[in-house]
Amino acid sequence: MSAQQMLKVFVTRRIPQEGMKILKKAGMCNLSVWDSDEPVPRAELLKGVAGAHGLLCLLSDKIDAEVLNAAGPNLKVISTLSVGFDHLAVDEIKKRGIRVGYTPDVLTDATAELTVALLLATARRLPEGVEEVKNGGWSTWKPLWLCGYGLSDSTVGVIGLGRIGLAIARRLKPFGVKRLLYTGRQPKPQAQEVDGEYVPLDTLVRESDFVVVSCSLTPDTQGLCDKTFFSKMKKTSIFINTSRGAVVNQKDLFEALSSGQIAAAGLDVTTPEPLPTNHPLLTLKNCVVLPHIGSAIYFTRGVMSELTANNLLAGLTGSEMPSELKL
Ligand code: NDP
Ligand code: DGY
Repeated sequence: MSAQQMLKVFVTRRIPQEGMKILKKAGMCNLSVWDSDEPVPRAELLKGVAGAHGLLCLLSDKIDAEVLNAAGPNLKVISTLSVGFDHLAVDEIKKRGIRVGYTPDVLTDATAELTVALLLATARRLPEGVEEVKNGGWSTWKPLWLCGYGLSDSTVGVIGLGRIGLAIARRLKPFGVKRLLYTGRQPKPQAQEVDGEYVPLDTLVRESDFVVVSCSLTPDTQGLCDKTFFSKMKKTSIFINTSRGAVVNQKDLFEALSSGQIAAAGLDVTTPEPLPTNHPLLTLKNCVVLPHIGSAIYFTRGVMSELTANNLLAGLTGSEMPSELKL
């Protein structure tokens, strides 16, 4: 391909080398990379995307009408290094006939595994225990010290039994979970595999010992977990969210946790990200917060990077994408 025929691609962050190798080897891209581990500043994003045929972005990049206008009419494809696509203004993208690639499936196991780890860490108070060992709080074995809640004979409720929700349920069942409830927009045939009972949200929230949120962030799920939601949970129940922070009203969660309305919460996602170090939630012992590491396994991130690159190339050449988001 001659220099003039090369297609301009803007990559908004340093990404795992697996994907970069694919893009370079394709020999059709004039690559411009925001070569940093930190997010591209908005002004640089608007500048970098100008005239681009392809945009490879991350979940921290808000791709809205302003960015699409800055890109201009060349833009054929947006490929995001994530399965979540709530950062993309889908209607604006569709209107312009731009194709979108994303990374479903390849991060399902990693995210489900992290969700189980977070649930156990929260329910069995692992961060508190580790801290007590370090700060001298461990005086002797005490019958009720650092007691928590177990999965055996429990009821688990999964909000959003999609790819990740089902993978979480599969992993939790062997811990001796008695009932697996789930809710969503419609019942799922695949729920049979985990003996899942499709119930209204209200039933799930009232009856579950563990409420696990694994739905996508949409206008319907934004702020779903609010004061009313927490007020229906049992005082002994644990709340886990590995979807998106905006599904939760964090003020209401703080209130529920600090008043003893619910037992504890484990969050891998927050609003904003990063959560400021002086945020009230971080003052609570019964709130375990992780820095959005659901898919953070070296291998998984490498595969995500490859898939994102291959989606982008397919979008540039007008061929079938390995994982295209149907708009
Ligand atoms: P899926 O599309 O397979 O699952 C999304 C689920 O959300 C579906 O089961 C859907 O149910 C459900 N849902 C949508 N609307 C509602 C609603 N109003 N009420 C209840 N449930 C609803 O996606 P994945 O499982 O692959 O990923 C889910 C999300 O997890 C991503 O969108 C992303 O935000 C997050 N994620 C977080 C990660 C992390 O690092 N913490 C890593 C990867 C993903 P239905 O089909 O019935 O509509
Ligand atoms: C996603 O893919 O949506 C996650 O949040 C990060 O892997």
